[in-house]
Amino acid sequence: MTEPIMRVEHLYKIFSLQNTRSKEKEAYEALQKDTPLEEVSKHYQVMVALNDITLNIEEGKVLVIIGLSGSGKSTLVRCLNLLHIPTAGKVLYKGTNILDYSPSQMQEFRRTKVAMVFQNFGLMSHRNVLQNAAYGLEVRGVERGQREKQAAAMLEMVGLKGWENKSIRSLSGGMKQRVGIARALTNNPDILIMDEAFSALDPLVRNDLQLELLRIQEKMQKTIVFITHDINEAFKLGDTVAILRDGKLIQMASPEEMLAKPADEYVKRFINTVDTTKVLTVRSITEVPGALVREGSGAALAVKVMGVNGVSSAYVLDEHMHYKGIVTLDSALAVLNGAKSYDEALITTVPCIKNPETLITDIVKISANTGFPLPVVDKDGLFLGIVTKAAVLTSLQK
Ligand SMILES: Nc1ncnc2c1ncn2[C@@H]1O[C@H](COP(=O)(O)OP(=O)(O)OP(=O)(O)O)[C@@H](O)[C@H]1O
Ligand SMILES: [Mg+2]
Repeated sequence: MTEPIMRVEHLYKIFSLQNTRSKEKEAYEALQKDTPLEEVSKHYQVMVALNDITLNIEEGKVLVIIGLSGSGKSTLVRCLNLLHIPTAGKVLYKGTNILDYSPSQMQEFRRTKVAMVFQNFGLMSHRNVLQNAAYGLEVRGVERGQREKQAAAMLEMVGLKGWENKSIRSLSGGMKQRVGIARALTNNPDILIMDEAFSALDPLVRNDLQLELLRIQEKMQKTIVFITHDINEAFKLGDTVAILRDGKLIQMASPEEMLAKPADEYVKRFINTVDTTKVLTVRSITEVPGALVREGSGAALAVKVMGVNGVSSAYVLDEHMHYKGIVTLDSALAVLNGAKSYDEALITTVPCIKNPETLITDIVKISANTGFPLPVVDKDGLFLGIVTKAAVLTSLQK
């Protein structure tokens, strides 16, 4: 595995409610001695916002951080660029602890390696769109022609070509956030941090921007750390989803893994809020396979049908359209060579989905673990079609 671009190790952030940094440290020491959290919070008058977080941020991937309000999401990402100084632990960028950076190294890191996109856009209303997008480069002293060229390219990337000279006030919320993204990208950072960046937008605009972000990610291969409350958004955008509760990392997994194996009840409850109108059933992704053969029509025909359709397996039905099994090209050829009987060649062990109204989320695991598209039949056993692994995964991305 390649080295993660960032990694946090045993990260703690404890806020002293009286703003005394010594209390932070004392509370941390007490936690190390296994003093119960409640006791520590009360005795030292602190809020333990991050409690021993260790995680990797993989280069070129989207990591989504999700959790209830107050679970520590913003605190975690603010530790990534040291807007918050962790109470304890390491924040590694390409293997170096950024807590050891000199002030000038830190400034360089903040200006060129990470960029943030905020929920409230954080744009300057007295500047036009182009000047906002070019702001980061201006701060870095890049000359005007160069910075405006880069900013214009990024505005085009987010779909705002032609809007360069418009005032910020004239833009809708969705467009303002496009400017926010362009401004962050203009610095060409390695890592884009987006804290609830789409949460204030209405659902349709939000949907557009989610797709836009995926498109940008595909093109630019940025590392993105994206915070949200919304599990639908998390599953749509995340290569990996990390779920926080009370400052602890409860589970970090791909959406598929998290659906198949939620770590505990908290994760399950989150997953259960996946919008059921958007959770599709198997029927909606069932397709008719190209290679269908009738039982008894023989191996030679099966080979031919597979050849015509360019596939290496065929679905076998009886004369009443009941599903019987699968023959592969290899096994059909073995029948032709006399090495196997037709019955021996028929694979009947592939799991069959017996109810087309089954939720796709319930077959993710079976689909992943089966070497063939899964056959689907109705309650009377009539063959309806097949469900491919690609269709299952694509439906989860929507
Ligand atoms: N500067 C601070 N001083 C004291 N407590 C703080 C400070 N910042 C955050 N906290 C507390 O730390 C905990 C985690 O806060 P954080 O903002 O990271 O949560 P969050 O998951 O981002 O929540 P939200 O979804 O509401 O944005 C909360 O209990 C919060 O009240
Ligand atoms: Mg927050």
